[in-house]
Amino acid sequence: MTQNKMPQHVAIIMDGNGRWAQKKGKIRTFGHKAGVESVRAAVRFARQNNIKSLTLFAFSSENWKRPAEEVGVLMDLFNFVLNSEAKKLNKNDVRLKIIGDTSRFDPKLVTKIQKAEQLTENNTALILNIAANYGGRWDIVNAAKQLVKSNLQAGKTIDEIDEQDFHQFVSLADQPELDLLIRTGGEHRISNFLMWQCAYAELYFTDTLWPDFDEQAFQLAVDDFAERQRRFGLTGEQVGEQG
Ligand code: IPE
Ligand code: IPE
Ligand code: MG
Repeated sequence: MTQNKMPQHVAIIMDGNGRWAQKKGKIRTFGHKAGVESVRAAVRFARQNNIKSLTLFAFSSENWKRPAEEVGVLMDLFNFVLNSEAKKLNKNDVRLKIIGDTSRFDPKLVTKIQKAEQLTENNTALILNIAANYGGRWDIVNAAKQLVKSNLQAGKTIDEIDEQDFHQFVSLADQPELDLLIRTGGEHRISNFLMWQCAYAELYFTDTLWPDFDEQAFQLAVDDFAERQRRFGLTGEQVGEQG
């Protein structure tokens, strides 16, 4: 397998925790807790396979509409994981970044996030992006707002704005382009995840529920990716005979 067949940036919609728990006769939040081990496995896999960026969808801007008790458990879990994992990530040369609108979180949680980001900011082996209170449409609107502000300062006209100008204000712009988007849990949709960044990502859907997604399952996704021919609008002949 040639090096360029390995994705540099992988994003995962970690879906299926609730159904995993219900299948076992447990309450939904049991599945969220079990899902933490899959997060650890995914980080290990990414780290060992030289993936440069791993972006995990942990909580969407729409997930606030779930029952308050479930939202509470998810927030507690986020807190707990930040406490228990930040030092370990740092030891493993992993840089942690939170993407999303964190202004809606408890100020104590925001401080914890900032501390963990600062602690790991010089690490280079892997960037672990956690999408929390993230929405793809929020990301695009947020970029538009920043672009308008910066253009007002730079004195550019609206007609001079191009994709590159816009791109620099979207989440993850400083990282490799998204190569592979995985969704566990059997649904075939984006659910307002990385809409701008998905433009040319390869999509991989698996019925495996998130708490069952282990390193082997991640390997299957990466193997599938390696078989794809990415054409970026060109013809198969133009990009060669791969895939
Ligand atoms: C994904 O699992 C985790 C979050 C959205 C926080 P779900 O909780 O959506 O699990 P299902 O899809 O209901 O099984
Ligand atoms: C997407 O899963 C969000 C996360 C995995 C955090 P959802 O379970 O919220 O998506 P829908 O509601 O099935 O589209
Ligand atoms: Mg779901």
